[in-house]
Amino acid sequence: MQICQHIEDVRQQGAAWQREGLSVGLVPTMGYLHRGHASLIEAAARENARVVVSIFVNPLQFGPTEDLASYPRDLGRDTELCEQSGASLVFNPSPEELYPPGFCSYVIMEAGPSLGLCGASRPGHFRGVCTVVAKLLHLVQPHRAYFGQKDAQQLAVIRRMVLDLNLPTAIIGCPIVREADGLALSSRNTYLSPEERRAALCLYEGLLAGNNLVKAGDADTEVVLRAVRERIEAEPLARIDYLALVDPLDMRPVPDLSGPTLCAAAVYMGTTRLIDNLLLKD
Ligand code: PAJ
Repeated sequence: MQICQHIEDVRQQGAAWQREGLSVGLVPTMGYLHRGHASLIEAAARENARVVVSIFVNPLQFGPTEDLASYPRDLGRDTELCEQSGASLVFNPSPEELYPPGFCSYVIMEAGPSLGLCGASRPGHFRGVCTVVAKLLHLVQPHRAYFGQKDAQQLAVIRRMVLDLNLPTAIIGCPIVREADGLALSSRNTYLSPEERRAALCLYEGLLAGNNLVKAGDADTEVVLRAVRERIEAEPLARIDYLALVDPLDMRPVPDLSGPTLCAAAVYMGTTRLIDNLLLKD
């Protein structure tokens, strides 16, 4: 497995694989990798001859009061996990490599799936995500790129961007990997105190409570949202940032439960913001 810091090296390797007719899968990450990331790399390795994993804590997608400086990092452990999961190349650029002095060109989504939820709570977040993902897709020119359903809005935004910009990469969504008790794996779980870690389960249990009502068949959106909210708010350490029932393609609130419905939530456990979601109706 190669480890590259420079754009030119990745570009050349990508071009060489293209010439050899090898399919390439890309897995963009911010590092501090866990089994959720590994599942994306493994899916990419099953479906492509070569797999590029990018590890880059993207400053552009963090707000001024967010955790850019403290975001957990462990490149040694990450590269080991990449190799074990089937990666061919790890791209680990410096911020200056991707954002040279004077950088001022961005990919901005002005409507559609980027507007609500994390788009509303984290101004500029999806501008940062779209810009870095567009750059990575452009550099690596992969046949397929892999993203987790864990960040359902990010997945919807990237699908939209790829469609809008006619990018030739297929976007593959992968299922959420959870801890044994149901908490979705996240690099940010490492911030949780033992007490917050126990309390954090309210997020998934809330989503399950909503899911049970939908499966029982006689609930409307308000009833479902109330059930989810009550389970989360029963936990004194939890504070809801947003909770919504949305269409999984455009991320807009659904008026009723007649079509595809995703329940999406962001919850603060102390100062740590966790997100999770569950598809209540396909
Ligand atoms: P990061 O949070 O490191 O996540 C990288 C990828 O792993 C994303 O596609 C995310 O949805 C997926 N992922 C995270 N936790 C997961 C889990 N428990 N199960 C399945 N997949 C999971 O998302 C980002 O980085 C960045 O925004 C990025 C796309 C790299 C752009 O900077």
